[in-house]
Amino acid sequence: MVDSDTSSDQDDSTQYRRESDLTSRVVTSFDNATDERLKLLMQSLTTHLHNFLREVRLTEAEWVRGIEFLTAAGHITDDRRQEFILLSDVLGVSMQTIAMNNPAVADATEATVVGPFFTEKSPEIPLGGDMSGGATGQACWVEGTVTDIAGIPLAGARIEVWEADSEGFYDVQYDDGRAAGRGHIYTDDDGGYRFWGLQPTPYPIPHDGPVGDLLAAVGRSPMRASHLHFKVTSPDTRTLITHIFVEGDDLLTSDAVFGVRESLVKKFVQHHADSSTPDGRDLEGEPWSSVRFDIVLSSVRS
Ligand code: BEZ
Ligand code: FE
Repeated sequence: MVDSDTSSDQDDSTQYRRESDLTSRVVTSFDNATDERLKLLMQSLTTHLHNFLREVRLTEAEWVRGIEFLTAAGHITDDRRQEFILLSDVLGVSMQTIAMNNPAVADATEATVVGPFFTEKSPEIPLGGDMSGGATGQACWVEGTVTDIAGIPLAGARIEVWEADSEGFYDVQYDDGRAAGRGHIYTDDDGGYRFWGLQPTPYPIPHDGPVGDLLAAVGRSPMRASHLHFKVTSPDTRTLITHIFVEGDDLLTSDAVFGVRESLVKKFVQHHADSSTPDGRDLEGEPWSSVRFDIVLSSVRS
């Protein structure tokens, strides 16, 4: 009894030493990297990765499954579909990276994920114009200001906006070349902006690939809380990529990519069909909504 206990203790310590030695050899294999940052990243990554493997006692079948998952993510990825960014999004890696790199500065507006549906080219919309481009949905008047953290209005700031239609699809998902539900606008001399958009509606992230399978396997929903995307640029300020969310939306606490920030949840006021619109636009008897979003840009250049 005593003998077999001793030999099992010995086996355990041999096993422990083999595992630790391997981890050490992998970590020290990066010692000669001349790029100190790369050295830090690789040594930290391999230390954490090995700790993970040893903590969960990864089986060989699980290792194979992991490789199959990454292979499937590679196969579905092309110029338009980026499954690895989607994976980063659903693991909260994108939001954590954004949070660390957009530190809180005074009352600067918080950043959130860019998502896969931003395009560099979008139509210019005049102040007060309509960015829906014929996309379906309830008209929504969006207005606000762009200022720096000292409260100085930023004239001529470029605001890109993009959003899904009421079916939950972005224009680029239709494959017919349409530009709808997106546009860019420039702030006026007082830093003000205003445009007609669409009342945001909830929709799922692309979930017909391995990331969707992963969410289904763990009982997580692919739905994103309803939102309207913004990208705001102005000289000498940090570029802001963010969205606004709809107060009262049930999905605010379960957004698939952890993109919701309390400060970005806004009141979208619902207006009756017969109430007059801010610019006198005739909505032909349709109800509409309105929201105010005042944007504060951090003065740190990005
Ligand atoms: C989106 O907002 O459209 C989005 C963001 C992250 C992943 C997928 C979609
Ligand atoms: Fe989106």
